[in-house]
Amino acid sequence: MSKEKILVTSALPYANGPIHLGHLSGAYLPADIFVRYKRLTNTDIIYVCGSDEHGVPITITAEKEKVTPQVIINRYHESNKAAFDKFGMSFDIYSRTSLPIHHKTAQEFFLSFYEQGILNEKKTFHFYDAKAGMFLPDRYVEGTCPKCGYEEARSDECEKCGSLYDPSELINPKSKVTGETPELKETSHWYFPLGKYQERLEKYVKESDRKYKWKDNVRQYCYGWFKDGLKDRAVTRDLDWGVKVPLDGADGKVLYVWFEAVLGYISATKELFREKGNEEEWRNYWQNSDTRYIAFIGKDNIVFHTIIFPAMLMAWNDANEDKFILPENVPANEFLNFEGKKFSKSRGWGIDVQEFLDLFPADILRYTLGANLPEGKDTDFYWKEFQSKNNSELADIFGNFVNRTFTFAHKHFDGKVPARGKLENIDEEMLELIESYPAKIGALIDSYKIKDSVFEMMSLARAANKYFNDSEPWKSVKTDKEKCGTTINICLQTIYTLAEVFSPVLPFTSDKLFKMLNAEKTSWQESGKSNLGDGHQINKAEILFTKIDDKVIEEQINKWSKPEEEEEKVSQITFDEFMKVDLKIAKVLQAEKIKKSNKLLKLQVDLGKEKRQVVAGIAQSYEPESLIGKKIVLVANLQPAKLFGVESQGMILAIEDESGKLSVLEVDTEVKVGTKVR
Ligand code: 2FM
Ligand code: ZN
Repeated sequence: MSKEKILVTSALPYANGPIHLGHLSGAYLPADIFVRYKRLTNTDIIYVCGSDEHGVPITITAEKEKVTPQVIINRYHESNKAAFDKFGMSFDIYSRTSLPIHHKTAQEFFLSFYEQGILNEKKTFHFYDAKAGMFLPDRYVEGTCPKCGYEEARSDECEKCGSLYDPSELINPKSKVTGETPELKETSHWYFPLGKYQERLEKYVKESDRKYKWKDNVRQYCYGWFKDGLKDRAVTRDLDWGVKVPLDGADGKVLYVWFEAVLGYISATKELFREKGNEEEWRNYWQNSDTRYIAFIGKDNIVFHTIIFPAMLMAWNDANEDKFILPENVPANEFLNFEGKKFSKSRGWGIDVQEFLDLFPADILRYTLGANLPEGKDTDFYWKEFQSKNNSELADIFGNFVNRTFTFAHKHFDGKVPARGKLENIDEEMLELIESYPAKIGALIDSYKIKDSVFEMMSLARAANKYFNDSEPWKSVKTDKEKCGTTINICLQTIYTLAEVFSPVLPFTSDKLFKMLNAEKTSWQESGKSNLGDGHQINKAEILFTKIDDKVIEEQINKWSKPEEEEEKVSQITFDEFMKVDLKIAKVLQAEKIKKSNKLLKLQVDLGKEKRQVVAGIAQSYEPESLIGKKIVLVANLQPAKLFGVESQGMILAIEDESGKLSVLEVDTEVKVGTKVR
């Protein structure tokens, strides 16, 4: 049988700060468990990752520190690589997107699209900071709202009053990079026509989901995007730092970081095989239809891996002989919070990996995170839980079982595996159990239920501990040595199985155990058999897990309970004030773009007794037609205002997600228009 071929990637973390526990739980630990398990199952698998080293935030960090971006990325590339290493990540390569091989790969993709004529060039106005010599993304411009006077309004919308305006109307604009007044400057960019690929993307998602069972969160997220209609996305930016746009006259322009970062997976694979002296071998993974490609990510990266990256690969495949495979599955995790709150670099909330591993061994962290992965919903890291997982599961169950067995084997059987005598029911049941566990755990990992697989690993240790207790070898050693030998033989075989099935989660402990057993790992399938021969000499036991003291945990809890900077201040309003807001259900009758504006749509809505015209800043999230027929929530008594010269008689409510995508609040189509929301 030919070997299964698998390509695994984890999201490339930005080299703009240290990685924290939330990152590990999202895209790294689950992938590493998957890969380590697969390597034991006669699979040809490679695991690729690296640093994402471009994008505006890196240039801003550099600016703040008065160093070059190269200094920043070198620092975090090295320290993150070392942290991953200490955590036991088993990447085949941890590359970086600043390498020439990556720049070349990304430029080839851009040129292929350009030459096919699928990129649209468009002109728009953006704020430009002359002192920093850069165009400013929206979140780096602040000024006074032309409508309500709020002083921290963004370049084209006010968070306080919800108004949208033309950036030229913003009063006293300031660059958040230098504090200088930016000017509005015209610029042109290339756009990738995502909409052109919508039909094929929908088919791809639907079929992959049917065949490979995508996770609910991932599927639903994709369908949400499809429903709203895919839109052109700019694939270039005005910036010095990044992959240069490979066209004459495109000085000062680079590829948009997301457009090239996903291609980093490909360039990292090229680098891996170049280092091995087998330059073309990368094609055997990326361009081989027998390869299964699995992309592990966190939920904030879904659209880039299920829609944008596949569309780019489709566009490449349309025009080139060497065709790429698409991800078979994108098992995205939700988020891990830290002691009840979101990890936040800017607010200094949440421990980073290096800091953690200076205090505790990697395996305890791997186990605690693994047992609590945010697979279906967000989960939390709590110090108390960490302590109890270590003390009452790793130490009291797993560690204790191993320790008792080794002590017994050395004390009563000279450290040699005793032969088995006649088997009783309890022995046979235990042997059947260890034989069944590798397949059971493997099936869970194969279906990305990593958290459940970790639970099952500990279940086997729990069952083993119970077997030891129920067999009472401390009694049989005095009355029936042969029976005692049977028990210890089976316990040692079980330790072998545990060492193997725990190895994806506890690689360091597993290595120690195999050393103690004086044995080598076998294949995953074989690990449930009796692998230790009678008379096999085992080594001295080492301590596997030490209990964590209350004092140590209290110290951490105190350290992390410093009052945080106040959360955003939201002033309270009275009930009467709230009741002044007239929220009503309205149905969208017509929707169209507003000329010269990238963000605004003009909507005609039905309120039952009357019709209204509303301007909404959702053009980057919705194709106008996709809004028609939706029932939405309208602030019906907002003073009319003119936006881009178009009168707006109300405001519609929407939410913004992490990627900046807006979703209008929708209600069931059964609800009558004009109904009041309260
Ligand atoms: O969210 C992030 O940290 C991104 N740097 C992930 C990039 S994944 C892929 F595109 F490389
Ligand atoms: Zn305002």
